[in-house]
Amino acid sequence: MSELVVDGLTVRFAGLTALDGVGFTVAEGSVHAVIGPNGAGKSTCFNVLSGVYRASSGSVRFGGAELTALPPHRIAGLGVARTFQNIALSRHLSVEDNLMLGRHRLTKAGFASAGLRLPWARREDARHRARVRDIARFVGVDEHLPAPVGLLSYGVQKRIELARALAMEPRLLLLDEPVAGMNGAERKRMAEVIRRVRADLGVSVLLVEHDMGMVMRLADEVTVLDFGRRIAGGEPERVQRDPAVIRAYLGAAHESAEPSEGSP
Ligand SMILES: Nc1ncnc2c1ncn2[C@@H]1O[C@H](COP(=O)(O)OP(=O)(O)OP(=O)(O)O)[C@@H](O)[C@H]1O
Ligand SMILES: [Mg+2]
Repeated sequence: MSELVVDGLTVRFAGLTALDGVGFTVAEGSVHAVIGPNGAGKSTCFNVLSGVYRASSGSVRFGGAELTALPPHRIAGLGVARTFQNIALSRHLSVEDNLMLGRHRLTKAGFASAGLRLPWARREDARHRARVRDIARFVGVDEHLPAPVGLLSYGVQKRIELARALAMEPRLLLLDEPVAGMNGAERKRMAEVIRRVRADLGVSVLLVEHDMGMVMRLADEVTVLDFGRRIAGGEPERVQRDPAVIRAYLGAAHESAEPSEGSP
């Protein structure tokens, strides 16, 4: 069973409760979206699930393991991979090398013996490179494999980031705003890749996204956060009509319409 069960999750920073008793379940093989206005706690939630932040209380269970006590590499080892709200690739390395780094936890040889060119290490390396090519093809970046990441367009870089997460062979993929900053065509392309991650690879997806059209099209279930609390959840169509959700978004729009320090 690789269902993700989040229960009573609370995260406090000095003087601020970023998550307050949040609970939801991501069914195996489903796309689950977490939405909410800016500052609602969505990225904080991701950071706890991937072990970057420590929960003040509550639990996160995945495939029988309790994740809240584990460091990021152990969580990744259990099959939970993530992307970041801002691109976190090595810009000077090639696409291929970035994807190979994503596979590092799966390699027995490590880089030292690969460098020594031991035959078994070379065979293992070839196997991983073949898989990396398959994954690059799956997300549509195979033509860019030799290119340094920094030279590629933003939309392509976001798909490479997703490919790197897939290179870890996850059972659950955490995507933080995968289409932020993209144009219409890039968004459509990314949405199609995410749909196929679930349909063709059977990987569960937990998605944080502001693009409501995308959420409504892709998600089987939606959890809505506002000021760190879960205010609604369920099927996308129902959530969209929920008065508490409409209020939260209207409130956020109202606030951002007023002149305030530090607003973009
Ligand atoms: N490391 C941190 N230290 C202190 N406060 C933090 C930290 N990380 C997040 N916060 C605060 O926690 C709250 C939730 O932030 P979070 O980044 O989770 O929101 P979000 O829902 O992802 O917002 P956005 O849509 O803008 O990405 C915010 O008030 C934020 O300022
Ligand atoms: Mg965020």
